[in-house]
Amino acid sequence: MPETPDIQRAWTIVRRGRPAYALKLKTDWPVPKKLEKGEVLVRIQAGALNPVGWKIMRTMPNLFANRPHVAEHDFSGVIVDANGTSYSNGDNVFGWIPTDLQQKTRQGVLAEYARVPAEFVALRPDNVTPVQAAGITLTAMTSYQALHKIAKLEADQTIFVNGGSTAAGAFAIQLAKAVGAKVVATASARNEEFVRKQGADEFIDYTKQPLVKYLSENPPATKYHVIYDAVGLIDPSLFTHSAKYLAPNGIFISTGPLPKNFGPSELWKVLRTVGAIVIPSWLGNVNRRYRMVLVKHDEEDLKAIQKLLADGSLKPIVDSTFAFEDVIKAYDRILTTRATGKVVVKVDPTVD
Ligand SMILES: NC(=O)c1ccc[n+]([C@@H]2O[C@H](COP(=O)([O-])OP(=O)(O)OC[C@H]3O[C@@H](n4cnc5c(N)ncnc54)[C@H](OP(=O)(O)O)[C@@H]3O)[C@@H](O)[C@H]2O)c1
Repeated sequence: MPETPDIQRAWTIVRRGRPAYALKLKTDWPVPKKLEKGEVLVRIQAGALNPVGWKIMRTMPNLFANRPHVAEHDFSGVIVDANGTSYSNGDNVFGWIPTDLQQKTRQGVLAEYARVPAEFVALRPDNVTPVQAAGITLTAMTSYQALHKIAKLEADQTIFVNGGSTAAGAFAIQLAKAVGAKVVATASARNEEFVRKQGADEFIDYTKQPLVKYLSENPPATKYHVIYDAVGLIDPSLFTHSAKYLAPNGIFISTGPLPKNFGPSELWKVLRTVGAIVIPSWLGNVNRRYRMVLVKHDEEDLKAIQKLLADGSLKPIVDSTFAFEDVIKAYDRILTTRATGKVVVKVDPTVD
């Protein structure tokens, strides 16, 4: 194995703003060779982008974000210093660096090396390539926690996935099918085939007519047990009208109604959403449970995802791959909000 260098190339977030303004490619960023107990040093093969990456980049002030730090969270790589953990040098792994860990340690995945607590990585199954594995952890774990821990989805239930072509939504469809549940999912018409390929039993084109109107006028014969809003709609209407299509003991789970900006119309929608969630039933609320999923690291969940990948129940989804030099173009792609699957950056140009 080649010797680990002292400095590396790293895309660092140096200030708040849009990616082209906030990111700087440094060529002398230190390789974090001093590891704490329980940490491993990973040579990154590929990193994947997530909306949370650019959302925090654009909104969080430097004071709270502990900048500069390396960008992004999801990766695949090779252990180059197992540091006495259960891993060996040369192990192929995938995993993530959550936002709080990134801000604490300044580590991220758009760099050649990162130090990570061993519990945040798992061995990469052989049926998944480094490029595919890079885009798994954050969104798969989000949907795993939404379906298994919050909804406790069962085989004889139906889940409605809003945004079946988002990475979170596509993984939710696959996870729901692995449980044996029925899945109804939305996307625009161009993504119908993709959504059905993930396993959706029924498809609704949300661009054809307003979704809430469609569902209210065509409610399912058996109301949905779970609605999983994998888009993170900021408009609360899908929830506020849900008595018509969500079972009384059902649950509405959102990946987070985060505003795109701090303009008055976005803030008004946030207020309406908060109101819809907190007003008591005697004031006319929906009388359905509302929960937001906020992904948190759980080693057991990562192991479960690894197992589902290895047995083929969970399949990676790659929208596009970009060279390390083209990180800004990769952000341009994710910023379209039209990516179908993960936007992956090859840190090591030789990997598939
Ligand atoms: N709370 C958490 O812990 C957590 C974790 C992960 C993600 N998230 C949030 O979850 C959301 C999804 O993240 P992601 O990474 O999965 O997104 P993504 O893959 O980047 O989403 C892109 C997809 O969104 C679809 N889309 C856009 N607007 C839509 C709409 N109104 N209805 C249905 N589909 C729509 C597009 O499909 P079409 O072109 O067909 O419209 C496109 O395929 C984001 O808001 C993200 O911030 C939250």
